Amino acid sequence: WSATAHKRDGDLVVGGVAVADLVAEHNTPAYVLDEDDFRARARAFRDGFADYDVYYAGKAFLCTAVAAWVAEEGLHLDVCSDGELTVALRAGVEPARIGYHGNNKTYPELRRAVVAGVGRIVVDSFAEVERLAQIAAELGAAQGVMIRVTAGVEAHTHEYIATAHEDQKFGFSITSGDAFEAVRRVHDAPGLELRGLHSHIGSQIFDSSGFEIAAKRVLRLHARVGAELGVVMPEMDLGGGFGIAYTTQDDPTDPARLAREMTEIVRQECRGLGIEAPRLSIEPGRAIVGPSMCTVYTVGTVKPVTLDGGAVRTYVSVDGGMSDNIRTALYDADYSCTLAGRASTAPPVLARVVGKHCEAGDIVVRDEFLPGDVVPGDLLAVPGTGAYCRSMASNYNHALRLPVIAVRDGAARILLRRETVDDLLATDVGA
Ligand code: LLP
Repeated sequence: WSATAHKRDGDLVVGGVAVADLVAEHNTPAYVLDEDDFRARARAFRDGFADYDVYYAGKAFLCTAVAAWVAEEGLHLDVCSDGELTVALRAGVEPARIGYHGNNKTYPELRRAVVAGVGRIVVDSFAEVERLAQIAAELGAAQGVMIRVTAGVEAHTHEYIATAHEDQKFGFSITSGDAFEAVRRVHDAPGLELRGLHSHIGSQIFDSSGFEIAAKRVLRLHARVGAELGVVMPEMDLGGGFGIAYTTQDDPTDPARLAREMTEIVRQECRGLGIEAPRLSIEPGRAIVGPSMCTVYTVGTVKPVTLDGGAVRTYVSVDGGMSDNIRTALYDADYSCTLAGRASTAPPVLARVVGKHCEAGDIVVRDEFLPGDVVPGDLLAVPGTGAYCRSMASNYNHALRLPVIAVRDGAARILLRRETVDDLLATDVGA
């Protein structure tokens, strides 16, 4: 839950606003974003990692207001598409403080980024180095470049979101020599300004040992570049991926502690290598926005189902589902939920919260004990839905994507409005 969330006589209150009142005005389903909580988490990273540049990873969740908050709180911004870049620029984020990612950036996309003055572009293939060098030459630019490398670390996380082992699409392999070759080519390109190496080992990571192995490998390459090419790269990025607590079983990341650990790892390794530490940066997304948002649904049906062995599971259908939170279906992610609009003293029953889409995998919360008197019309709130829920939302079954409503000091403000059927029809050219 976000920091301001609490129950008042059964009513969930976030940012000083009773969720039931919010629903009366804005309806469900809806995402509720606790602005103070988001800003506090952003500041915790900024202050914890005081000697670093902290790039908020916009892929977790981005809209114009959030990009502006990120800038106001003194963070940089990581984007990975033309769309995200457009939002960042629209919000007035200083282009020099934007980093641009992606494993297949097109010529027009790269050109727009260079023209906009994006501070650093993270290159991911030789084709891209060539493309970018050509663009920079054409425009007479001096484009800051980071090189995404594969540190060969498999973070202990879900297979689909581990990105630093060798057999995947991102980065230049250190072991094959591609990473060194990429450094050489970027260094040799007149319009490209080599800033440093970039490594991102995965997401929802709790164990800092993955970062440690990756940092050591990347620093060794960094040192080798210094020794063999005589090039001292000023920066290094260690990526994002810091875990949050989705359920009470997880321990959330403490930015200050993590910063101390990572800084110490880098300091020791640099001492061993006899080099000066580069300026470090990180890219947290989930750990900032994840806990700041919850999703509020209305219960539509309640259906007890008798399982083999006689136990009963109550299927509680809500008015959203995998179109607003694909993470349960896609990653087997664990969520929890609570009755949000009233108090109940009914004994709890084992429930599964499901959506309204046409498939059995459309599960929002796999297992939760909910009061046994939950009925259609009740409100349920699912915490921890700030990261990769709205940003991965779909229009499956022609569902309308949900609004994002920011709450702060007792006031609510719509950041993204609810989609309408007209929004959907706007792309359908007709028969
Ligand atoms: N930097 C890079 C280069 C990344 O690829 C990512 C995430 C991040 C930073 C931010 O990672 P975070 O701190 O948010 O974990 N859709 C998946 C997560 C995919 C992450 C993709 N890259 C999920 O819902 O868990």
